[in-house]
Amino acid sequence: MRAETTTVPARLPESLRTGLFIDGKWQSATSTFDDHDPSSGQLLTRVGAADATDVDRAVRAARTAFNDSWGSVSGAERGALLYRLADLIERDAAILAELESLDIGKPIGQPTALDLPNTIATFRHFAGWADKIHGDSIPTAGYMGRPTHSYTIREPIGVVAAIIPWNTPLMIAGWKLAPALAAGNTLVVKPAEDAPLSILYLGRLIEEAGFPPGVVNIVPGLGDVAGAALVRHRDVDKVSFTGSPRVGQDIQRTAAETFKRVTLELGGKSPQIVLADADVDAAVQGIAMGLFFNQGEVCAAGTRILVHRSLYDRVVAALGEAARSQIPGAPFDLATTIGPLVNRRQQETVLAYIEKGKAEGARLVAGGGRVNRAGFFVEPTVFADVSNDSTIAREEIFGPVGAVMPFDDVDEAIRMANDTEYGLAATIWTRDVTLAHTLARKVRAGAVWVNGWAAIDPALPWGGMKTSGIGRELGWSGILANTEEKSVTVVL
Ligand code: NAI
Ligand code: MG
Repeated sequence: MRAETTTVPARLPESLRTGLFIDGKWQSATSTFDDHDPSSGQLLTRVGAADATDVDRAVRAARTAFNDSWGSVSGAERGALLYRLADLIERDAAILAELESLDIGKPIGQPTALDLPNTIATFRHFAGWADKIHGDSIPTAGYMGRPTHSYTIREPIGVVAAIIPWNTPLMIAGWKLAPALAAGNTLVVKPAEDAPLSILYLGRLIEEAGFPPGVVNIVPGLGDVAGAALVRHRDVDKVSFTGSPRVGQDIQRTAAETFKRVTLELGGKSPQIVLADADVDAAVQGIAMGLFFNQGEVCAAGTRILVHRSLYDRVVAALGEAARSQIPGAPFDLATTIGPLVNRRQQETVLAYIEKGKAEGARLVAGGGRVNRAGFFVEPTVFADVSNDSTIAREEIFGPVGAVMPFDDVDEAIRMANDTEYGLAATIWTRDVTLAHTLARKVRAGAVWVNGWAAIDPALPWGGMKTSGIGRELGWSGILANTEEKSVTVVL
């Protein structure tokens, strides 16, 4: 059966399409996959599942648009389209926030306060870059005794495949789309199976904004079918991926066969370092947010909490209290502070990590099990006296679970902070400006925050060291990651 849509519940907007968006047209797929509401476990809708043939059509459309229509659009016009898209996202921000909450289960206040404003700001930031991407004029030594005139040009890479995770799909799609489009690339976007709706709705807004057909194509589908077909495809020039290290590794391996450029953002095990002079109340509040925001399903979640021994008991007690005061509930209940995990598999993975923490001898301070209600809920959980060598301190859990451990001096704190496979983010809580900057230099992470968690901004480069990934998105780095540099020399 070729089904584009079935069972669209009342909450889904009329204009949402659940098929494939290829060459400016909504199309049905040969099969579908089920998209669930994680707060009830009920089916939300069925979404078209692109196969390798669909992916090939999408890539061809992107290639044709790159060579023809999009190639002749000036930077100023690309910027105008991106500004228009930002305005449309702003117009429909409430709808998009609702879709994020429905699809992932996050409390509605969170996408309203973070994902939507950040996505709008990202499109505006890159709209501004679109007509300011320039090369340099470079003095050279000459050629065979004759003078030369040399300069560089930054050109778009071509067709970019954007593979999106389910935790903050719209925002991360914006991080990949906005810089790629500003730089003049075309895209094929593969949303995640668990949360495709906001990106499908974005497709409607891309249409409405007036982007030429084929500039942005959207192919929802399974990772090992649609995602893998994109990564293999000979005519895709770059893959930008956010997700698990295992899939990131597969992508890089496969991408090597066709020399694709890759940007990988693969999560972390980010430290929160509380120094002896920290403002403890502010630190506890920030750490709780870093653990429980978005159910802890955040690549930059601050899950390893390193506390100076003089503050240790106080911080452990306060974090236990913060965990117990969270209110698990339905995403549209305004009292809710933490929603369900995205699916049963994620719930089971997180519960298994919690059992592992108990078995490995960590002290359970709060939480530690499932929440007794429908949906994939896990209690906000805090472990103290965790060994930095134990599983819950080393592996990314991607759920509301924190590991607290004491340190005695700053050198030990840095050693522990860096004793991890990951290197995405780190937070330092201190009032000592010298220590703040000194530690910021020493910690091996792509982003360091002092006295705040997740102070992200589209102007700042984003990405990790070590297992956390390769390359940077956002800011000028986002433009560099979406362009090829060419040198031109004229022998005079
Ligand atoms: P995943 O890495 O499997 O999925 C991310 C995206 O990659 C999805 O769109 C998926 O369809 C696609 N994908 C999967 N297999 C693929 C393949 N072979 N080729 C191309 N694309 C493929 O992540 P999953 O299984 O949903 O979550 C597992 C764990 O990954 C989480 O528990 C968390 O630790 C980590 N994760 C990290 C994220 C981050 O922000 N860095 C986001 C999502 C997950
Ligand atoms: Mg869903």
